[in-house]
Amino acid sequence: MKQKLLGSGLVFLALALTACTPLGWGWGGLSSGGYASNGERIYFTGTSANGRISYSGGNVGGMMGGGQLACADCHGPNGRGGRHTMHMTVMDAPDIRWSTLTAEEHDGDGGGEMEHPPYDEETIKRAVTRGLDPGGDPLDPAMPRWRMSEQDLDDLIAYLKTLD
Ligand code: HEC
Repeated sequence: MKQKLLGSGLVFLALALTACTPLGWGWGGLSSGGYASNGERIYFTGTSANGRISYSGGNVGGMMGGGQLACADCHGPNGRGGRHTMHMTVMDAPDIRWSTLTAEEHDGDGGGEMEHPPYDEETIKRAVTRGLDPGGDPLDPAMPRWRMSEQDLDDLIAYLKTLD
């Protein structure tokens, strides 16, 4: 049954996915079945199984190529962040594992200058969508401001909780 569907639908499927996934991320759509959860998919591809995700900001050297950004691009595949060069800009993205974000001794991007209370579910959502830390201070514009559904945010946070 599944085999048959694959055989007959493959060409159409490939075309459909190419048409509706953002430039350069066609493979993200094609391999979406390979993610264990929608949250994981969002984390790695910036696309959701259930709706549109978009963002503004995320100023990385003018964003040549216009590809879709995903959390993993900056915060790393394991959420630990780190410093790396992206589009010729040094990107210093913080550790965003749940355990780190919600710890009392939270030290932001390692610069030590971020003085704010620990994150919780609501403030993580606010950081992702509005770019505010728990103290209400704006995050660096290098962190994109995301638009995604409440369901997608829940899925994403559930995924952050699995990283350690
Ligand atoms: C273009 C790079 C980039 C992408 C893509 C990105 N981030 Fe960030 N993010 C950053 C940077 C840089 C910061 C640090 C901002 C600051 O220090 O003010 C940050 C900060 C954060 C913070 C606040 C952490 C803290 O310690 O205060 C959270 C939470 C976060 N990002 C979650 C996400 C999630 C979830 C995604 C995917 C939906 C994502 N980010 C995608 C660059 C990025």
